[in-house]
Amino acid sequence: MRFAVLGSGFWATEVHAASLAGHPDAELVGIWGRDAEKAAAAGARYDVRGTTDLDALLADVDAVSISLPPSVQPDLAVRAAQAGCHLLLEKPVALSVADADRVVAATTAAGVASVVFLTYRFRTSTTAWLEQAGRSHLVGGSVTWLASTFAADSPFRGSVWRAEPGAPLWDLGPHALSLLEPALGPAVSAVGARAADGTVNVVLEHEGGATSTLTLSASASTLSAGEEFWVHGDAGRLVLLPEAGATAHEAHAVAVTELQAAALTGGAHPCDAAYGARQVRVLAAAQDAVAAGARRTV
Ligand SMILES: NC(=O)c1ccc[n+]([C@@H]2O[C@H](COP(=O)([O-])OP(=O)(O)OC[C@H]3O[C@@H](n4cnc5c(N)ncnc54)[C@H](OP(=O)(O)O)[C@@H]3O)[C@@H](O)[C@H]2O)c1
Repeated sequence: MRFAVLGSGFWATEVHAASLAGHPDAELVGIWGRDAEKAAAAGARYDVRGTTDLDALLADVDAVSISLPPSVQPDLAVRAAQAGCHLLLEKPVALSVADADRVVAATTAAGVASVVFLTYRFRTSTTAWLEQAGRSHLVGGSVTWLASTFAADSPFRGSVWRAEPGAPLWDLGPHALSLLEPALGPAVSAVGARAADGTVNVVLEHEGGATSTLTLSASASTLSAGEEFWVHGDAGRLVLLPEAGATAHEAHAVAVTELQAAALTGGAHPCDAAYGARQVRVLAAAQDAVAAGARRTV
């Protein structure tokens, strides 16, 4: 399948383009960016076209892999779907329910496949962890993700959308939900509070009665940065341990393979745009709950 990468920033070039350029069953055809020089440089790095001409690139590919801020992604995703391209989307799909629903409607209307790159879901260790979770009676779970997004050595320190208040929820929340929801069931309500340093704390209630807690920060000190994921129940506390040597571009390559399979078979993927839109509903409810200091249903 012929792919274009939309975006010429760090994540687009280091992960999306690197994965596609090395993929045995996919071909990286070009890279689109809004800035001609950056797009050309990104293309040159992988010996493919680097362009600002989106329509010409879309006409030449079967699929796009989008790595742009979530406020920018929905319009481009809709354009790509309307051009008949399958969509490998970034998390979160959008920053509003209306934008997320537009992406879903466009994929349905065009009959194209979609996968949201929820990185952990494309790792073998997560598959094993979810299988183990599926054999247990679970009552709760927890995700703590303390990121130092704006530290001097962070590749995301210049990211404008991550500097918005509440951004940890939208940036890190999709990963948390991608692990907690398949283990504990769909989240149905949220309560939460924001700490003085911007850390977002949310308690989710899941269908069936389990609860989970999310502690998400973009401004943690580098000494406290790190991630922890676990669920618990009759089988004990199931901790998702970090996978030694796992890279994001390997996970992306798995997502590419699964998008191609969904496109060829016409089957829905569990992390498709519709699931991405569901995540946006949960995140919007959690954001409202934090702002109001009251429970919000999804
Ligand atoms: N799955 C994961 O584990 C994972 C990890 C990291 C990031 N991501 C996702 O990847 C996406 C991109 O993240 P990022 O950190 O690269 O974002 P970012 O740094 O905030 O922005 C990436 C690029 O988007 C371009 N851009 C900004 N506004 C634009 C606009 N209006 N039109 C066109 N291009 C625009 C900028 O290009 P210029 O260079 O032209 O300014 C910038 O380099 C996000 O959705 C993020 O959540 C996912």
